[in-house]
Amino acid sequence: MYLSHLALQHFRNYREQRIDFVAPKTILVGENAQGKSNLLEAVELLATLKSHRTSRDRDLVQQDQPLAQISALVQRPVAMAELTLVLRPVGRRTARLNGETLRRQLDFLGALNAVEFSSLDLDLVRGGPGERRTWLDGLLVQLEPVYAHILGQYHQVLKQRNALIKRLYSDETPPSESADLTQIALWDAQLATLGTRVMRRRARALDRLTPLAHHWHQAISGQRETLHIHYQPNVPMVQDEPQAIQASFLAKIQERAIAEQHQRTSLVGPHRDDIEFTINDTPSRQYGSQGQQRTLVLALKLAELHLIDEVVGDPPLLLLDDVLAELDLNRQNQLLEAIQDRFQTLITTTHLGAFDSQWMTSSQILTVKQGQIF
Ligand SMILES: Nc1ncnc2c1ncn2[C@@H]1O[C@H](COP(=O)(O)OP(=O)(O)OP(=O)(O)O)[C@@H](O)[C@H]1O
Ligand SMILES: [Mg+2]
Repeated sequence: MYLSHLALQHFRNYREQRIDFVAPKTILVGENAQGKSNLLEAVELLATLKSHRTSRDRDLVQQDQPLAQISALVQRPVAMAELTLVLRPVGRRTARLNGETLRRQLDFLGALNAVEFSSLDLDLVRGGPGERRTWLDGLLVQLEPVYAHILGQYHQVLKQRNALIKRLYSDETPPSESADLTQIALWDAQLATLGTRVMRRRARALDRLTPLAHHWHQAISGQRETLHIHYQPNVPMVQDEPQAIQASFLAKIQERAIAEQHQRTSLVGPHRDDIEFTINDTPSRQYGSQGQQRTLVLALKLAELHLIDEVVGDPPLLLLDDVLAELDLNRQNQLLEAIQDRFQTLITTTHLGAFDSQWMTSSQILTVKQGQIF
């Protein structure tokens, strides 16, 4: 897919800005705090309906404005798509696809795909399990947009179950009313059903991602290192059979019942999953050197890019926020080779000096200054 046009109105520090993308690579150059990352964030919102920098729309709308609008033209093999997203400091978003307002924002997902790589992504390796779950969920939403719906339902049930547990166990006497126990059992069943759907999709996505990540990791590290990715579901997945996983889910809930009463929160389910990366059998979280961690994240990003291409059947965009200059020339060249002209790439940087000259040859170079692009 190819993003040919982007228009921002009152988005972050942009008042009114239109950009035509005329080359497979676009380099956005500018000093700090001028609006480079904001622009990539706008593209990320169109692709995932989420920003990795904030969960509040009020941060995204230019100060003192009633609404922000992001519009884009995307060329797809079959047809052109026109996307518009309207954000408000308070209240719901409006999503339009080809001029038609969508009743379900879910239908907006899939119109544009993008993989973002920023220095924050090193937290994928160094950070807590939540970082890795967010990463995998973001990928899944692009691979199969219905996952956003499933995950949303899961979190809804989790929230309700937590509220119930908090209420029932707020004093030291455990609930004796059978009505209460029936209610918990109902939530348990829903949590297990939805949780199983989340887990099976996560497992399947990682299965498909792993060989690609393995390949790119070998290429970047010069065959010296072997990457393994292990899904660590909170609930054991003995068989890939929904009924069996649900049974294992409910059994673990029973096992952890006392602990849940003490901690007054749900301790069982995919909201506690983790993903382990090992390099040559060493967990990279604890032992990986900075260079190894950077190689790992780059390999994961390239794997994501190729997996979306494979599953969706159309190459996604690559958004490189401030990371290119941090990569040494070897890794820069590996990256160039991996994307070639197949993946449209938007790159931000404060200085062009650190780039290999090959990056410049097929690039459109734009300057970002105080929320304006020249
Ligand atoms: N809602 C908003 N309204 C107005 N301005 C905003 C809003 N949100 C962010 N900004 C401004 O946007 C600027 C930051 O932009 P951005 O994060 O894109 O910088 P950048 O060019 O990527 O810089 P760096 O090189 O430091 O990463 C800041 O000046 C900030 O005050
Ligand atoms: Mg930035």
